[in-house]
Amino acid sequence: MKKKFIAELTAFQARYEAQKIAFGPVVFQCVRIAWKKGLLNSLAQGAMSSDQLIEKHQISVYALHTLLESCLSAGVVAMEDNCWRLEKIGYMLVNDKLTQVNFNYINDVCWQGLFELEQSLDAEEPLGLAHLGPWKTIYEGLSDLPEPAKTSWFEFDHFYSDSAFPDALAKVFAAAPQRLMDVGANTGKWALQCLRYNSDVELTLVDLPIQLNVAQKNLEQAGFLGRVSLAPRDLLAADLAFPKGHDAIWMSQFLSCFSLAEIGKILERAANALSAGGKLFILDTFWDRQQYDIAAFCLINTSPYFTCMASGNSKIYRATEYIACAEQAGFALTQSWDGLGLSHTLLQFQKNGT
Ligand SMILES: C[S@@+](CC[C@H](N)C(=O)[O-])C[C@H]1O[C@@H](n2cnc3c(N)ncnc32)[C@H](O)[C@@H]1O
Repeated sequence: MKKKFIAELTAFQARYEAQKIAFGPVVFQCVRIAWKKGLLNSLAQGAMSSDQLIEKHQISVYALHTLLESCLSAGVVAMEDNCWRLEKIGYMLVNDKLTQVNFNYINDVCWQGLFELEQSLDAEEPLGLAHLGPWKTIYEGLSDLPEPAKTSWFEFDHFYSDSAFPDALAKVFAAAPQRLMDVGANTGKWALQCLRYNSDVELTLVDLPIQLNVAQKNLEQAGFLGRVSLAPRDLLAADLAFPKGHDAIWMSQFLSCFSLAEIGKILERAANALSAGGKLFILDTFWDRQQYDIAAFCLINTSPYFTCMASGNSKIYRATEYIACAEQAGFALTQSWDGLGLSHTLLQFQKNGT
């Protein structure tokens, strides 16, 4: 990532870049507040003076200048002829869904808990999660998260996985699964798309009970419960066994909730539940499989959330790490596709044996 850019920096420029990191949290909050207060949206309509902004937004000159001067330092706005003007970076806050989703997720889900990152790394426990609720992992409380964390979490999760689902459907159904098990089914979004895509397929949804309650309601409302079984499971439980009788297993943005050792065990149990030749599809975001630096940057910097908020020992992995776990568990990689949706890779495995 960014190797050429970094190699060409002078020492003076490198020092400036280091200060951008040091003051990054300050700039983040000032830009975010300027956006939330509608200042950036107003500037998207055209340049405005401080007096015009003060009158329109009922903000003090002190607050306005504190926020917009930080925005100026970050290239979010410019100052020309005593008027504030929105720069291209500012338009991303106003118009770009990726930017908005990431800002909300970092602030509403991660910000407070990140203060406990160092202790969480040492303890391998999500010690920052106490800011949101009393759970051992965030997954136990997903549907009970306080607002705005709940909305921001689901928007973040769905923004990424939803973008990849349409591309993935055709590839999964090319293998003609009759009985598909969706592990980490969450609110049932993928299951719904499968049931609509193929009128014969039957699905088993596996997830924590709290998530499956929501999925059940969603599938019932859509009229699909007849082709669905629900299998509430804590996949970390020592005596876990997956339901049998499926020809394919689907895991989307799921294994990143666990440590590599746990991933190994889950995949072993997945292999035990399939007959020889059964398929395993893993859809996930891998930072080593990205075409663009922007995607690798977002993914790598999502890992600390997994440490301090989610589970304490999970992260965004490299594809090679999943592939090694799956091979160890008795699967062979048969195909893989990069660039699905925003940044996903689909790995297709087959269970070894005859
Ligand atoms: C990041 S979400 C992904 C959801 C969905 N598959 C998608 O692609 O949007 C991870 C899912 O794994 C589930 N999960 C995490 N830990 C689990 C556990 N120990 N047992 C069962 N499910 C778990 C969560 O409840 C959540 O629904």
